[in-house]
Amino acid sequence: MQESKGTLIEFFVGDHHHCDGEWAAFEAACDGVNSDNNGREKARAHWNSFARATLLHLHLEEEVAFPEFEARTGMTGGPTAMMRMEHERMRALISQIDEAVRLEEWDDALDHGDTLLLLTQQHNQKEEAILYPMLGESIGDDWPMIFRRVEEKMELFKESDSTGSDADAQ
Ligand SMILES: [Fe+2]
Ligand SMILES: [Fe+2]
Repeated sequence: MQESKGTLIEFFVGDHHHCDGEWAAFEAACDGVNSDNNGREKARAHWNSFARATLLHLHLEEEVAFPEFEARTGMTGGPTAMMRMEHERMRALISQIDEAVRLEEWDDALDHGDTLLLLTQQHNQKEEAILYPMLGESIGDDWPMIFRRVEEKMELFKESDSTGSDADAQ
């Protein structure tokens, strides 16, 4: 997670790239699970980093950015509702991968990961091309004030010790 004072769009697009990087690190670590003494621990650690970063991202959108957009535009059943539904599918896949990692079923984890990656790519494209520009427009110059709430949520999230349940709590 970057500490950005830039625009809302820069912050959330940058965070997409951060999550992509965490996934790439996990995928690379999966190659080493059989060849390296600490390979499995490394893969598990990279998985936790990815899951944590992604769940935090969804949390910040759902708890800060989307409600702000909905309050300012009155659009509660539009693009944010669709994005929330897709977040639920992403969380379900993350849970499946989490279970596969726990059981050390690395091939299963990567198979579910392919599905998650495709879904995430399509989801992120929609956000970056459509929703974030709308969000940026509606929030305008208030981003620095909203960013403080983002920082507060990030702190609370870091203090929670689970990889998912606290992020799922409303
Ligand atoms: Fe999203
Ligand atoms: Fe996003």
